[in-house]
Amino acid sequence: MSASTSLAPDWLLPPDDANALADGVWPASAHRDDDGVLHIGGVSTSQLSRRYGTPLYVVDEEELRARARRTLAAFRSAVEPHGVQARVYYAGKAFLCAEVVRWVTAEGLAVDVCTGGELAVALAAGADPARLGFHGNNKSVAELESAVGAGIGSIVIDSWIELERLIAIVERGGGTQTVLVRVNSGVHAETHDFLATAHEDQKFGFTLEEAPAVVARIRQHASLVFAGLHCHIGSQIFGTAGFQESAARIVEVHAALLEGGEIPVLNLGGGFGIAYTSVDDPTPIEALASGIVEAVARECARRGIRMPNLAFEPGRAIVGQAGVTLYDVGTTKPVEIGDGAQRLYVSVDGGMSDNARPALYGADFSARIASRVSHAEPALVRVVGKHCESGDIVVDADYLPADVAPGDLLAVPATGAYCFSLANTYNYVPRPPVVAVRDGSARVIVRGVGIEDLLAHDAGLDGGADMPVLSERSESK
Ligand code: LLP
Repeated sequence: MSASTSLAPDWLLPPDDANALADGVWPASAHRDDDGVLHIGGVSTSQLSRRYGTPLYVVDEEELRARARRTLAAFRSAVEPHGVQARVYYAGKAFLCAEVVRWVTAEGLAVDVCTGGELAVALAAGADPARLGFHGNNKSVAELESAVGAGIGSIVIDSWIELERLIAIVERGGGTQTVLVRVNSGVHAETHDFLATAHEDQKFGFTLEEAPAVVARIRQHASLVFAGLHCHIGSQIFGTAGFQESAARIVEVHAALLEGGEIPVLNLGGGFGIAYTSVDDPTPIEALASGIVEAVARECARRGIRMPNLAFEPGRAIVGQAGVTLYDVGTTKPVEIGDGAQRLYVSVDGGMSDNARPALYGADFSARIASRVSHAEPALVRVVGKHCESGDIVVDADYLPADVAPGDLLAVPATGAYCFSLANTYNYVPRPPVVAVRDGSARVIVRGVGIEDLLAHDAGLDGGADMPVLSERSESK
């Protein structure tokens, strides 16, 4: 045995086959050909790496679209018996580019943006402004102006200051703006549990107690149309308990607000968890959808109020499994940890710049050799990047065939969400392109950021040619 199993985390068991592709972690199209090479969307990963280089973000268009369709269908059929509508916004923060906007909108989803930048991408891609929602805790005046100017469907108000800014902007323009009010239900479902504190110590939204005053202020202004409450309890949540608890608390406030007029919608945010490793077992979206919708229906029935239309904002659950990152193995190194224990470090040509999640959240991922199968015994490995930090980990622990070696192509699944969108160029490591695969063909949907691009931003190389100069001396002349 080249690496001790005693270093493995409790949840990770040695696999029968270290070439196997775990169910639910990879895109449905992932399979190995007769030579053992991994294919995604009908395209050989070896060919992808030869054509586009590594690291490479690969996104399976059909997987993403299928998940978008399935999610929308799940919420639509969950609300159907209650005679109300469900709208699903794709949370662009998970992974946004023009093609993704086109795919999700073609599948019937609306799009949620949280900055002027995301708004610009959605608009540039041709999204219907009326089907965009804009939230965020610090939208600038300029961002609000461009959203209102574009005719955005809804703005989720996050603070008193923002509310006053928005009133001024909309009144100046002479039109009306539909708004929601972000509330903090006090349910903080960061992972599997939820915490029932009334006042959470975080930056988003209003407390439930504040909401009536905020809504009253909105209702005083003919320029604003109050559409409903909005809440998002966290991300990568397994199970329905947190959502149900949150829904119960929000419906109570929603019911009280009905005294001031109709409220067409209740937006319960996103946060549905996905499988990153073979042991993750997320609730299927159909069960989540019906569990949440039934909880809202029960709460409404209990209070004798009409159920509102519902809106949801999943990001990760739509795009996560559609993404696979390819890396080239550069070095391997058995490291003695003491007591005879040894860990095999596998260094790849990317790292925390293309996937910051392990460093930021201690997130777990898994890996497989993509370019071949091997019947060498499984070895416990840690896949690390090329950055100058020991926390530069891509896969903290997984088993790979013990003969994993330089030149092998490595694939890390479930990297579709919050990997490209959190990418950076730390250590001047280029940002990989994103290639979409479908039906046996591949195309670049986001170009990479290369060394030449980074050098082009270095104003010291061209004397700041295009940079406006601010000089105290010349100003005062
Ligand atoms: N709606 C709102 C208001 C949100 O803040 C978020 C995520 C979503 C929807 C979408 O959540 P999802 O369905 O994707 O879980 N960078 C972190 C995740 C941050 C999520 C922020 N808000 C990560 O990589 O895990």
